[in-house]
Amino acid sequence: MQMFFSGQWQDKSDTIDVVNPFNGEVIDTVPRGTAADVDAALATLAEGARIMKKMSAWDRCQILRKAAAIMERREEELGRLISTEEGKILAEGNLEASRAREVIEVSAEEARRITGEMVPLDAAPGAAGKLGFTLRVPCGIVAAITPFNFPCNLVCHKIGPAIAGGNAVLIKPASDTPLSALKLTEIMLEAGLPPEAIACITGPGSELGQAICEDSRVRKISFTGSFPVGENICRMAGMKKVTMELGSNSPVIIMDDADIETAVKAITSNGYANAGQTCISAQRILTSSKIHGDFLDALQPSVEALSAGDQLQAGTNVGPLVREADAERVEKWIRQAVESGARLVTGGERNGSVCEPAILADVAPEMRISCEELFGPAVALTVFDDINEAISLANHTEFGLSAGIFTQDIDRAMRFAQEVDSGNLHINWGSQWRADLMPYGGLKHSGTGKEGPKYAIREMTEEKMVVMHLK
Ligand code: SIN
Repeated sequence: MQMFFSGQWQDKSDTIDVVNPFNGEVIDTVPRGTAADVDAALATLAEGARIMKKMSAWDRCQILRKAAAIMERREEELGRLISTEEGKILAEGNLEASRAREVIEVSAEEARRITGEMVPLDAAPGAAGKLGFTLRVPCGIVAAITPFNFPCNLVCHKIGPAIAGGNAVLIKPASDTPLSALKLTEIMLEAGLPPEAIACITGPGSELGQAICEDSRVRKISFTGSFPVGENICRMAGMKKVTMELGSNSPVIIMDDADIETAVKAITSNGYANAGQTCISAQRILTSSKIHGDFLDALQPSVEALSAGDQLQAGTNVGPLVREADAERVEKWIRQAVESGARLVTGGERNGSVCEPAILADVAPEMRISCEELFGPAVALTVFDDINEAISLANHTEFGLSAGIFTQDIDRAMRFAQEVDSGNLHINWGSQWRADLMPYGGLKHSGTGKEGPKYAIREMTEEKMVVMHLK
């Protein structure tokens, strides 16, 4: 596919192959964009930002509604494309396509609800006769730097609110999975977005990322990806507004009064969906010593029933990792955990980019598989004796994006919600659950700012204070 900027689809002789991660087959090529392309794109986007600033909320809403309708019509095509370029199974690709449409629909609704507030200035001493209110205005150019793992939905989580808020948007999709973002660009243009107001530049993250983040024409950066890259972006961004959706190694606490059947169902899905390549995957499973044996006895056959392989084949539950190097890393971390005393209960073998779903037991909190973000199809079990220890283990990490607890006890559930350092907290489900309209974002090294169209629009607009000095 071509990339899009300066109001046109653009080619380059220098290209990057986009491959199916299962078999390495080249499915398409995209241009290798450069810093000079970013510079040219930003010149046009500056004009796009002026156009968008003048566009009414109603017109922005109509563009997004139309885009959602096109996405609905093309949902099957988008779902297959997502699975083919990213490696998630078809059911997950289709779900992502439908969630992405929902994000654009909700963004269209939220475009009509951007408000300021009256500020009672005459409540301040000496301010009688003053009237104040806030106004929300677009930031201007929003950069959307997006990850490989949800190549369609996480692009929509950035461009939907950016357009709803009246901005122009520059997309830099992950180099492994740029095709869905290019299709979305095509859809936005077909829906009537002015061509000056959108660009999608493909190519190497380091060169393009630096050109985008250091350019003062970009007023807001919304990034999803790893902590080290996010931290580097923040350094380059200077005084720009940023939203950082970074990684995690989410804990799920299984108390002694847990409904084990539901907990097993949740972990079997939350630990292995998208081959574990989700920021909110259940990674650290903290089980009460009183039910640890029963829980593991029930979890093992459930995980062993998952079939790993070609994501496009019916019957596959777990597809490949996005790159063979990532599958090698997962294999290595599992081996290191076993060498340090963990017990491999099942799985862990690798065949190319496919890893067999694994369970590790007797995992110590200091092991890499527990401290860092695995992004692979394995869960690490650690036993605790009481709720105090469970909460302390849950917080024994730099991250804080999502966490879960299984318990029938409201007091324990509320202690979990209050004391676990996490942006999202699930009671009687695992860490991996998201409704696209909810506020979503992490604490600590998991990031800053919120997504979810209503909340992202706040971050992609500036608040101005207007004071009327009445006579
Ligand atoms: C993520 O992995 O960052 C997003 C997860 C989701 O939207 O389900």
